Amino acid sequence: MNTIEAILSRRSIRAYSKKAVERDKLDKLIECAKFTPSARNMQSWHFTVIENEDVRLEYSRLILRAFRSEDPSFVPKAGCEADFFYGAPVVIVVSGDKNDSWSTVNCALAAQNLTLAATDMDLGSLIVGMVRKVGEVYTTVEAEKRLLKLPDNYRVCVAVAVGYAAETPKERAARASDTVTVIK
Ligand SMILES: Cc1cc2nc3c(=O)[nH]c(=O)nc-3n(C[C@H](O)[C@H](O)[C@H](O)COP(=O)(O)O)c2cc1C
Repeated sequence: MNTIEAILSRRSIRAYSKKAVERDKLDKLIECAKFTPSARNMQSWHFTVIENEDVRLEYSRLILRAFRSEDPSFVPKAGCEADFFYGAPVVIVVSGDKNDSWSTVNCALAAQNLTLAATDMDLGSLIVGMVRKVGEVYTTVEAEKRLLKLPDNYRVCVAVAVGYAAETPKERAARASDTVTVIK
């Protein structure tokens, strides 16, 4: 698969098989994430690879707690009530250095590298932005730091769920037509 094929065929996957992701594929994913371009080559990211189901589910409960602390009636979307990562056997949390103003951009680009590399290796993936809520709520942010063993001064930017797809997503939404201005 070439890069353009990966970009055009990648889809968000919200159902995963139990099949484990092979170690060499995981290593390649992390290598691809580390080779993301970054402003001033600061590489101001940290990757936490969760391969443990209990930890993943505890993280999910923390996300739910964060949302409910702001809105007690919060109900997750169907399919992720108990697991915001939809049963993915691997979750790669991408955190950024709070002291680098570019870290959010760098982390987002790294997340995209992860999804494209996953696509190339026939793995499904999903960028999960809901994780950000945990760091915004003072009652959950410390628990997150402990659970993810985050280095000091790092804040979670996004997570990427990875695993073998157990669904074929329905046709993708049409692309908006008014998002490009050409100046000649
Ligand atoms: C920054 C970002 C955050 C996202 N957060 C979530 C999320 O928390 N949960 C989820 O199910 N999908 C999430 N998505 C996936 C989008 O819903 C998905 O990319 C979009 O619907 C387009 O579908 P596609 O990826 O299959 O092309 C996120 C995507 C991005 C780029």
